[in-house]
Amino acid sequence: MRIYIEKDYDAMSRRAATVIAGEILHNPACVLGLATGSTPEGAYKYLVDWHKQGLLSFKDVLSVNLDEYVGLAPSHDQSYRYFMQSNLFDHVDIVPENTRVPDGLTKAPAAFCADYDAYIRSLGYVDMQLLGIGRNGHIGFNEPGDCFVKETHVVDLAESTIDANARFFASRDDVPKQAISMGMGAIMGAKKILLAASGEEKADAILGAVTGTISPRCPGSILQLHPNVVVIVDEAAGSKLRAAGVSVCG
Ligand code: GLP
Repeated sequence: MRIYIEKDYDAMSRRAATVIAGEILHNPACVLGLATGSTPEGAYKYLVDWHKQGLLSFKDVLSVNLDEYVGLAPSHDQSYRYFMQSNLFDHVDIVPENTRVPDGLTKAPAAFCADYDAYIRSLGYVDMQLLGIGRNGHIGFNEPGDCFVKETHVVDLAESTIDANARFFASRDDVPKQAISMGMGAIMGAKKILLAASGEEKADAILGAVTGTISPRCPGSILQLHPNVVVIVDEAAGSKLRAAGVSVCG
C-alpha cells in the first residue's frame, strides 16, 4: 500500500482527484469503480472543474458504482444514482448508458446481482476502484460479518451504518435498512484501488484496513491482500497510522 496523509479534506480530495484523472488520461476508455458518500464529493468537484477547463474528458469512460440503497428510486435525492448524477455525471461528458449503479428497485435482486457481476467480468473488471470506508470498516456496503462475500449481494445494513447515514435523511427511520453492494470479488478484482477517508471518526477504520488483522470483522482489511492500493487520508483520519509509526509516502 502507498499511503498519503494530506493536511485536510480539500488536499485529500485534490490528491484523490489527481489519481483518478491520471487514470483517465493514461487510459481514456478506462473502467472506473465509483463510490458515494461525503468522502468522494470533493474529488468529484475537482474532476468536474478539470473537465470544464477542458483538461479531462469522460467520453469513453465506463463506470460501475459500488452500491445502492434497496427501495430508493433514482429520483430520490438520497439514492446513490441521484448522488452520482448531481455530483459527477450531469457535469461531465460521460455517456449515460456507460454508467451503472445498482438498481435499488429491482424486483429480482438475485438475478440483478448476478448480472451486475457478469457485466463487471465482461469489462475485464474495473481499472481503478475508488473506495470510502465506513466507521466500522465497511467498504461499499460490505458490513462486518463472519465471512467476506464475493458476489454482488443484498446486505442488511449495520445499526452503526444506519446511524452514520441518518444525517442525510429527515429521520433515522427513513434510512433504508438494506442495500445492494458489490462484493469483494469485484472490488479485489480491480487493477488499482484508491481508498480515501477524512475525519477523526475514520481513524480506527483506516488503521484496521491498513495494519489490522485481515478479517471480515473489518472488511477494509482485505485490501492488505491487494497488490496495488493507494490510501489517501487527511491528518485526522491518518492520526492513528502516524501514532502507530506506519510509513507514509507524504
Ligand atoms: C457509505 C457507503 C460507502 C461509503 C461509506 C462512508 O454508507 N456505502 O460506500 O464509503 O459509507 O461514507 P462517507 O464517505 O459519507 O463517510
